Amino acid sequence: MAGKNASAAATEPLDGNGAAAASDRLEPSLARTRIRSIVAAADPGEMAGKKVVVGGWVRTGREQGKGSFAFLELNDGSCLGNLQVIVDAAVHPLAQLTPTGTCVVVEGELKRPPEGVKQSLELRAEKVLEVGPCDPGKYPLPKTRLTLEFLRDWVHLRARTNTISAVARIRDELAYATHTFFRNNGFRYIHTPIITTSDCEGAGEMFQVTTLFSDAEKVEKELKKNPPPSESDIEAAKAIVKEKGDTVAHLKSVKASKEEISASVTELMKAKENLSRLEERFKLSAGIPQKDDKVDYSRDFFGRQAFLTVSGQLQVETYACALGNVYTFGPTFRAEHSHTSRHLAEFWMVEPEIAFANLEDDMNYAEDYVKFLCQWLIDHCLEDMEFMVKNFDKTAIERLKLVASSPFVRISYTKAIELLEKVTDKKFENPVEWGIDLASEHERYLTEVIFQRPVIVYNYPKGIKAFYMRLNEDGKTVAAMDVLVPKVGELIGGSQREERLDVLQQRILDAGLPLEPYEWYLELRRFGTVKHCGFGLGFERMILFATGLDNIRDVIPFPRYPGRADL
Ligand code: 4AD
Ligand code: MG
Repeated sequence: MAGKNASAAATEPLDGNGAAAASDRLEPSLARTRIRSIVAAADPGEMAGKKVVVGGWVRTGREQGKGSFAFLELNDGSCLGNLQVIVDAAVHPLAQLTPTGTCVVVEGELKRPPEGVKQSLELRAEKVLEVGPCDPGKYPLPKTRLTLEFLRDWVHLRARTNTISAVARIRDELAYATHTFFRNNGFRYIHTPIITTSDCEGAGEMFQVTTLFSDAEKVEKELKKNPPPSESDIEAAKAIVKEKGDTVAHLKSVKASKEEISASVTELMKAKENLSRLEERFKLSAGIPQKDDKVDYSRDFFGRQAFLTVSGQLQVETYACALGNVYTFGPTFRAEHSHTSRHLAEFWMVEPEIAFANLEDDMNYAEDYVKFLCQWLIDHCLEDMEFMVKNFDKTAIERLKLVASSPFVRISYTKAIELLEKVTDKKFENPVEWGIDLASEHERYLTEVIFQRPVIVYNYPKGIKAFYMRLNEDGKTVAAMDVLVPKVGELIGGSQREERLDVLQQRILDAGLPLEPYEWYLELRRFGTVKHCGFGLGFERMILFATGLDNIRDVIPFPRYPGRADL
């Protein structure tokens, strides 16, 4: 009872006399029941007869019995399944409710439908509480099957489709599973910056963050409206300052009255202010500020050049070198002009970083994490996964089960090249030889054809990998590892980090990068260096792998790629 009173008080503010003032009164909560809890009820018999309020969007609506009642298939996004709602014409004008896309909130009683009907419960509407009408002539997502490509032009509405809402739920489950896995393993979640001044991958694929352009535009507009002073305006203002100064000096020398002197000093101050204002405006010039024939970034927002991060790794390393096991999970940005079905300009990455650990620990964590994600989907998201199997990829669930239960193959890069060189049943577009960066076709051949399960390739040539990866004894390879999976190719990229100060400095220089921006990173090695490793899992690649969908643009709510950034 106490709880009930407390919630009544929370929704009805009281005035001094204990009565709710009319203007403060809040609309009572709808206390909506999620459709998932009805259609997936463990015991539908027990729910039958209950009064509930549900809200959702009509997937299909049809009038029956010569317009005496209507069936509405209502979906609220809580699950794939729709709830069948039956509305009598006496309850509400049916034509308003049946168009696909209409939003309705109804109150009614749950009933067991007649035998032989596939639903286990349906709702008999007693009241239609709210309607968000939808003009069927204009609604862009009619009931017909729409291609995923078509839906990319409607990102603001596409979550109302079965596929995109299933992907959204799978994505959410994978995010939750990620936090669960790392928490279970003693990792702390660290928020690394989105705006950065260091290039983690050293690949020069960063989006710049600057206000120089908008500042320049503002100045240009302002100068057009209000032209800057000319040199002669400045000279004239200087002459006035001189004249006022002379007057002050003269009045002082003739021992004029205090009042006269102070009035002339005020005049002088005004003239000086005017001069400095004019000089300030005189300096204003249209365009991007330059210094020594280069853009002058000291005039930019941060006083230096800044970018959107390509990876949170370098920053999260600072926390690994203090808290031990940490991870970051956030958006990353790459200005690669690739139009492939595996690349986005904005994607999410999960990046654990582990202190007191080497490459083998790194591989173990990566394998355990991917297995955990697969098992999680089997345990928590089976309905949506079954939808994927039925509509996109027959093997999706089998693949999850296989990956969750069998060990990953681990081979060195050198061995992988040997295997690929022996391939005779396929002609690769990119010739294979030791030293090449493995192309997607090679990665997929290894995992899909040769091993038919996830493969971890390790010890890559140093020339094709980032500067922070630990140099191996052979001086030719680095302690890097990539996890390759069927359907996708590279899912994870990781490495043991170079913890030796001198080697790291040399690797930065060899990569053609300046030392100065990495000074703070070098200090982690200068002060209490520790062996550590980490990896990055491309979150959208994981969703592609799980769902079997073909294009990465369909597994992120708002895809960004060259030429496209809707909303
Ligand atoms: O291999 P990458 O470039 O590794 C890093 O960024 C490291 N700093 C990670 C670390 O060690 N903390 O990227 C990691 C993963 C790739 O394996 C791939 O799955 C994904 O990120 N990825 C992309 N996903 C979508 N679109 C893109 N443009 C991607 N680039 C990389
Ligand atoms: Mg990589």
